[in-house]
Amino acid sequence: QKHLTTKRYGRRIHYFDTCGSTQVIGHDEAQNGAPDGTVILSEEQTSGKGRMSRPWSSVGGKGIWMSIVLRPSLTPQQAPQMTLVAAVSVTRAIQEVTGIEPDIKWPNDILVGGKKVTGILTELQADPDRVKAIIIGIGINVNQVETDFPEELNPIATSLRQVLGKPVDRAELIAKILSFLELFTGLYEKHGFGPIKLLWESYSNTTGKQVRAVMLNETIVGTAMGISDEGVLELKLADGSIRGIYSADIELPK
Ligand code: BTN
Repeated sequence: QKHLTTKRYGRRIHYFDTCGSTQVIGHDEAQNGAPDGTVILSEEQTSGKGRMSRPWSSVGGKGIWMSIVLRPSLTPQQAPQMTLVAAVSVTRAIQEVTGIEPDIKWPNDILVGGKKVTGILTELQADPDRVKAIIIGIGINVNQVETDFPEELNPIATSLRQVLGKPVDRAELIAKILSFLELFTGLYEKHGFGPIKLLWESYSNTTGKQVRAVMLNETIVGTAMGISDEGVLELKLADGSIRGIYSADIELPK
């Protein structure tokens, strides 16, 4: 905690050597009244969870596997914007601590040289009109070497250490993430989504590209026009119409 400069976030940290998933613990904590900014960290996860029910590889001692319980006053419709707040905060923190300039692929994959270094999973506990808690799960590949990843991930995933050629101080990075998250959440609560949208666009590698959006029941191709004020990805289709994408896997051109 020596690096921590935040007022609210990370003032309460639950730390584990190992656990199933910090995200599951985050849900339990939130249900039991954990205050805004409660952090759950684990050295290792035995069943890390990714988006769309995928597994998330979380070897011991090398990555940052963290969930944060937030209690912003939001409607469930605004929640996707918080995902983008988190993506911007983590990107900025990686930039400051390592000097690496990552890209964000919509909605919240953080890539370096086209390979994934960070995934973010946002989950809600909500009434129909009010968010009770938002659990933001952040997985960062920090100090893994090639042999730490399952073989099939090496073509699509990398770590900050592999990019930089030297290990990165995880505690320093965690502290920076919490501090940017507190800063940008404050900005968002005070000034709305506008400033976050601008920041997000400045990091995005998606806007302006011809992309494929792979959804459960269909795949569509179009030009990414950017994100709307709700955080929805807007695609321009061949017939000129605009289609809003709420949830999909985006494939960028090679
Ligand atoms: C993705 O699919 O890109 C999102 C990955 C999110 C992984 C993190 S690691 C910490 C937290 N606990 C989990 O089980 N998942 C998230």
